[in-house]
Amino acid sequence: MIKLGIMASGRGSNAEAIFQACRDGRLAARGAIVVSNVANAGVHEVARRFKIPSLHISRDQFKNGDEFADILIRTFQSYRVDLILLAGYMRKVPSALLKEWDHAVLNIHPALLPKHGGKGMHGLRVHQAVIESGEWCTGVTVHFVDEEYDHGSALLQVGGIPVLKDDTAEILAARVLEIEHQTYPKAVQLWIEMRNKYQKA
Ligand code: GRF
Repeated sequence: MIKLGIMASGRGSNAEAIFQACRDGRLAARGAIVVSNVANAGVHEVARRFKIPSLHISRDQFKNGDEFADILIRTFQSYRVDLILLAGYMRKVPSALLKEWDHAVLNIHPALLPKHGGKGMHGLRVHQAVIESGEWCTGVTVHFVDEEYDHGSALLQVGGIPVLKDDTAEILAARVLEIEHQTYPKAVQLWIEMRNKYQKA
């Protein structure tokens, strides 16, 4: 069974959708550990409900970035994590971790990348940008994480979420979030199936 490590900074609704999919058997995986850079983030409560350990680990607890990366890597190794999922994680992931989990760190973004992504494009700002662009549709992107924000290649992208005339960023965010919750577990299941089928013996 694939073991998941979650990194999140906020309320944790995507983490919850993942754990629920594991529980329901839609996802052939199990949550192993949650790491948050925020001590009182909602994701800790989500983890508690699903009986998954959660830790507060942030860059400012360490003298330098190398020590931080080292602790993160050792934490995920100690829980034998196969796949790391960013779910509203608001910081850059250390390069050393990306090297260790090559093509095994995913992120979800609430728009159709490469549009409306990059540094500073998070939360309501993303949806505000979509509304201002005048586009009719938005979507969700699950992508491989690389050294740049919202930049790695897509694993699964779902478009066709309508942008309606009277939408505010909040209303659009809620519509997109529902699709995020459906899409992230599907993307993870796809990653697992491809890995099982094609990984070298
Ligand atoms: C989601 O919209 C996700 O796409 C983005 O951050 C938000 C996290 O929300 N990366 P939650 O903490 O999963 O509820």
